[in-house]
Amino acid sequence: MTDAYAQWQARSRAAVWHPCTQMKHHERTPPVPIARAEGAWLYDHRGRRYLDAISSWWVNLFGHANPRINAAVAGQLDGFAHVMLAGFTHAPVIELSERLAALAPAGLSHAFYASDGASATEIALKMSFHYWQQRGARDKSRYARLAGGYHGETVGALGVTDVSLFRAAYAPLLRDAPVLPSPARREPADTRSAERAIDDALEALAAYLERDGATTAALIVEPLVQGAGGMAMYDARYLAGARALTRRHDVHLIADEIMTGFGRTGTMFACEQAGATPDFLCLSKGITGGYLPLSCVLATDAVFDAFYDDDVARGFLHSHSYTGNALACRAALAVLDIFHDDDVIAVNRDKASRWRNIASPLAAHPRVRNLRQCGMIVAFDAQTDRPGFAPWFAARALESELLLRPIGNTVYFMPPYVVTDAEFALLVERTLAILDECSA
Ligand SMILES: Cc1ncc(COP(=O)(O)O)c(C=O)c1O
Repeated sequence: MTDAYAQWQARSRAAVWHPCTQMKHHERTPPVPIARAEGAWLYDHRGRRYLDAISSWWVNLFGHANPRINAAVAGQLDGFAHVMLAGFTHAPVIELSERLAALAPAGLSHAFYASDGASATEIALKMSFHYWQQRGARDKSRYARLAGGYHGETVGALGVTDVSLFRAAYAPLLRDAPVLPSPARREPADTRSAERAIDDALEALAAYLERDGATTAALIVEPLVQGAGGMAMYDARYLAGARALTRRHDVHLIADEIMTGFGRTGTMFACEQAGATPDFLCLSKGITGGYLPLSCVLATDAVFDAFYDDDVARGFLHSHSYTGNALACRAALAVLDIFHDDDVIAVNRDKASRWRNIASPLAAHPRVRNLRQCGMIVAFDAQTDRPGFAPWFAARALESELLLRPIGNTVYFMPPYVVTDAEFALLVERTLAILDECSA
């Protein structure tokens, strides 16, 4: 007799095609049916719990079932859930746009919405190309990307991503975008200093722009942390340099802060640490605190003005049915209220330094290399030849009540900000115990 838990697993495997998953692997490790979640914890249908140490794919900020976000969404439900945004508007989308413009680096005052991160990438790419067309720079049709960069998995976004696992199968569909050296040093193969890696990346960018700037619409980067490429971190000096160089060569800078935005790197947006205003700022994930799909591209006045015309064809004729969804905007406004009312960025600054101390025993473990931290993200590389390290580690983590999903040999912690010091200590302690078992 199978229990409800096993039945949910069987039904999910039969009917749901899970993302980023080889479905056959669910024969051995079926998906975990979640019944409820609260704070930093998920609870399955057998009553087991899991610490959501990766914020459910980097989206959750203030915990699951957060009463303040719940109330905001419920309140909006009494009015309306959604109305099309072409020809109509509403308070939640207006207020959110105003508040995002006020929080973002100065000059990004026009918000265009979609639902997922990859859609925001698509919008920024299209807007950039179209801008140059409208301005008469007709040769500008290429995008430069960074080695190890990740910007989503729709065809356009994959075209500027550099993670071969996701690209290889679709290579013939993708436009060829030049790959520039990353400013992030990848140990152990890379023995340069962090400073040298940045100098090299800036020199390569300068040479590229000198040669190909006239045919390049934009450079797209993940500011400070290349997430899906392995939590590779680099200093803000690269961003400041890249901004100056792209400006000098009339090339847009697209800052993909889909993962880094909303405090993950210690400031509201990672770009702030470089004092750089990109031409496009892509946001998603934490924007609704992990509640509802929402993404946004903030663009400058200069970009907006290039589309402002009597001719409909000169407008940005891009849309998604759920653009500016009112429930999602309400959730996002509640998130911004929490940031403001609880002084989250300042509180997190102390929390990040406590996390540094709590995580420090990891550095002494013989399997741990390159322990690193950027704000609320802690990562290290496991030195092991064990085949299938990532799925093995993830399965052992689940048995230890932890939701962790290493990227290759990189183990990272990116929990919701509400995680307590005791919970963070438990995360470190149990990670150490799993590493002890890693014999290969
Ligand atoms: C930097 C970055 N850009 C884009 C995306 C794509 O976002 P989504 O999965 O919502 O399409 C991600 C997702 O991990 C991301 O980390």
